[in-house]
Amino acid sequence: CAEMAMVCLTDFEEYAKEHLSKATWDYYAAGADECCTRDDNLLAFKRIRLRPRILRDVSVCDTRTTVQGTEISFPVGIAPTAFHCLAWHEGEVATARATEAVNTCYITSTYSTCSVEEIVAAAPGGYRWFQLYVYRNRKLSEQIVHRVEALGYQALVLTVDVPYTGKRRNDIRNQFKLPPHLRVKNFDGVFEENAGPEEYGVPANTLDPSISWKDIYWLQSLTRLPIIIKGILTKEDAELAVEHGIQGIIVSNHGGRQLDGDPATIDALSEIVDTVQGRIEVYLDGGIRTGSDVLKALALGAKCVFIGRPAVWGLAYKGEEGVREVLQILNDEFRLCMALAGCRNVSEINRNLIQFSKL
Ligand code: FNR
Repeated sequence: CAEMAMVCLTDFEEYAKEHLSKATWDYYAAGADECCTRDDNLLAFKRIRLRPRILRDVSVCDTRTTVQGTEISFPVGIAPTAFHCLAWHEGEVATARATEAVNTCYITSTYSTCSVEEIVAAAPGGYRWFQLYVYRNRKLSEQIVHRVEALGYQALVLTVDVPYTGKRRNDIRNQFKLPPHLRVKNFDGVFEENAGPEEYGVPANTLDPSISWKDIYWLQSLTRLPIIIKGILTKEDAELAVEHGIQGIIVSNHGGRQLDGDPATIDALSEIVDTVQGRIEVYLDGGIRTGSDVLKALALGAKCVFIGRPAVWGLAYKGEEGVREVLQILNDEFRLCMALAGCRNVSEINRNLIQFSKL
């Protein structure tokens, strides 16, 4: 059959919706409760208008940037999402190869269906961060921190918006769980012993809802890696993160999968950027679907953004090649938007690009 021409990220979304099983599609698409926050993540970007500058010689536009001191090809990385083998048989190994080829940052989820060892072996030169949850059994967290540090992961991303899993209606209706041929490979042997009620194919109640700021000091005592907190939405928590010696913040509402009623991430970004005042890097995820979304997030102060669902759609389309295509399309769109807005490099992207009178 004729090759489909993929033009934009929503083409991959349509493909994934058509080709994945209903339960898998529903799991990836899910938001909490009425999905207000999930949908607002996208809509909020569409409300923002730009102030383009003209006649600025945009014959060459450089999309490169740095995160935590490391250069990446453009300011879009892959957010941590669980269970890549549900979308493509090679799973996270394919994601890792694609991000290595494109030279950007891949945040590996704790709930990956390939082990961190397999991921690193598949793409030894890739730039990677590891997403961490804190378990009731602290030894588990401690072991995985040491494992990923030894494997050359460059930062830890502590996800803080899941003291409990949000209520995702379709997952409940579908009784979603990992099919028996897949497992959370990073915890082979550990989770199996823990027979009991399951949630999303892993034992329920493994995450520790009692985690608090003092646990940041505990985590810092385990590792020399920079620690980035994912899931901050307020200036108060951003200030606490800086005070606790955190190296970065990902403004995130978990793709609208946790508290329905959270603000869209692009609407929460400014108060955090204003509070942090450049002391640490601020990133954003949620709702990035076009190059102009990336430009708007950078204009409002994000150093880099991350995509969750679009990477999974790329996987569902063609594995490594599909993820590469998703990233390439976003890179091309971002470069074009930069040029049309009169920006020759990412340091020229700033608040003057935003039409605040309209907001
Ligand atoms: C996620 N997200 C997530 N976050 C995390 O820290 N650990 C995880 O294991 C997962 N798993 C996960 C699975 C699926 C299917 C989705 C859609 C999301 C949240 C993710 O990192 C990110 O915050 C959002 O996906 C960003 O929003 P977009 O790009 O999907 O709109």
